[in-house]
Amino acid sequence: MKKLLLASVVSATFAVPAFAADQADVVVVGAGGAGLSAAVTAHNLGKKVIVLEKMTMLGGNTNRAAGGLNAAETKHQEKNGIKDSIETHFNDTMKGGKYLNNPDLVHKLTDNAKYSVDFINDLGGDLTDVGMMAGATNKRTHRPTGGGFVGANVVATLAKASKDKDIDVRTSANVQKLLIKDGKVTGVQYKDKAGKLRTVNAKAVVIATGGFGANQAMLVKINPKLKGFGTTNHPGATGDGIKLGENAGASTVDLEQVQTHPTVVPNNGEMITEAVRGNGAILINQEGKRFINELQTRDVVSAAELQQTGRVGYLVFDNSVRRSLKAIETYIKKKLVTEGATLDELAKKLNINADNLKATIDQYAKFQAAKKDDAFGRADMPRPLTQGPWYAVQVTPAVHHTMGGLRINSEAQVLNKEGNVIPGLFAAGEVTGGVHGANRLGGNAMADIVTFGRIAGRNAALHPTEVIVSRGQNPKDAETATAEGK
Ligand code: FAD
Ligand code: FUM
Repeated sequence: MKKLLLASVVSATFAVPAFAADQADVVVVGAGGAGLSAAVTAHNLGKKVIVLEKMTMLGGNTNRAAGGLNAAETKHQEKNGIKDSIETHFNDTMKGGKYLNNPDLVHKLTDNAKYSVDFINDLGGDLTDVGMMAGATNKRTHRPTGGGFVGANVVATLAKASKDKDIDVRTSANVQKLLIKDGKVTGVQYKDKAGKLRTVNAKAVVIATGGFGANQAMLVKINPKLKGFGTTNHPGATGDGIKLGENAGASTVDLEQVQTHPTVVPNNGEMITEAVRGNGAILINQEGKRFINELQTRDVVSAAELQQTGRVGYLVFDNSVRRSLKAIETYIKKKLVTEGATLDELAKKLNINADNLKATIDQYAKFQAAKKDDAFGRADMPRPLTQGPWYAVQVTPAVHHTMGGLRINSEAQVLNKEGNVIPGLFAAGEVTGGVHGANRLGGNAMADIVTFGRIAGRNAALHPTEVIVSRGQNPKDAETATAEGK
């Protein structure tokens, strides 16, 4: 008893932390696509990196990414005879974002996205198939062979690279605070699996915690109209990085810009990739009629869908579309798809007027043959949808992407309210704002997270010994920058 009392007095008097602080050159908060890209890049520059991930698994929303990663002027486009340009990618991105985007960030994205494709492929990934997504002038969405899911491929590639390179990646490590000394960020404090507070001191911190699409309270506070909407996001997308940054004096931008995705299965959050439309599917309503150019941007398609009976639409496609995209097999396996050997059968199963459905498909086939959509002006109609069986999925909009976040410059440095750099603090990915303006184009987030992840990783590695200057980002750039002592 005496011994016990003494022990409790000692521990109360000398409240020493249970663990000594860890030391790193760079600490990365969040192990999604942006965080892991940053970690691999900083490690390649010879730095000791620690990655902290609050969930039990790696990947965040990146794991869920489906349709692909946008990049222009790539060797894979060239191989497939696709004519595209970085300038067109820039213009599409600005137009899609309603010109609210920061053009410096968009230039950085579109100039360097092709190197991000190389970066992932050089690490063993598969971004070789190229398809079409909404709001794009040309096919530039890179994805695994046969149209597989992009996110799982990218996360597996980056996770394997991190393991092979022996990068210290810790899961169940929830970062709660940035450490700041004399106005400089000097590390982080996190809660480990056992609920113990731990410290990592570092020369630089990269925030890569993703968006807040799973934080209902934050979404509804920003836009009450989002009350009741489902989400496509993983449960960890709660906006932690925005709070961490704000507590360190960071400024935010465009927080009110929240995107809904128009093809989400009602009541279960399962998103049907835009690539299904890109490969030819159309959208019809409960009356069996088309109601929108299916390749319009997500804000426009979502708004049109909410005007239809029951606030839903049906994504309709045929066997030729099914065969063009591996991702569809997963939706069929998950029993999300209704099949009809004939259009009559499909209409009956969906309780849709069969004559209207047949007339719609008939008319669409004529538009496709004439390469002119007289009804809605859809430019790309790759397939006539005449090969049965036919398929349909009921869809409705759900919260998908938060375009706003921490304000950064084009070197991924976080800015304070006066527009000055916060020394030692970098951010990349969906936690940042300004890249996508009022509406993100499909495929541009994957390009964003790998591109800005790499930039953040490189610049965090160079901090504080190197002056960070804006430079290009070919795959060798990080290495040459060090070799030349730039
Ligand atoms: P994430 O991948 O979400 O990673 C952030 C990580 O940080 C998470 O693992 C999270 O748990 C962790 N974290 C959060 N807070 C903390 C904390 N306090 N401490 C420690 N860790 C923390 N975009 C495209 O361009 N193409 C697509 O095909 C595409 N498809 C999509 C499909 C779906 C269903 C969804 C939801 C999104 C899709 N997107 C797509 C968008 C894209 O996937 C995301 O914008 C992108 O993956 C975000 O990457 P990130 O690294 O910024 O964040
Ligand atoms: O529909 C999709 O595949 C989603 C793409 C994206 O969010 O960029």
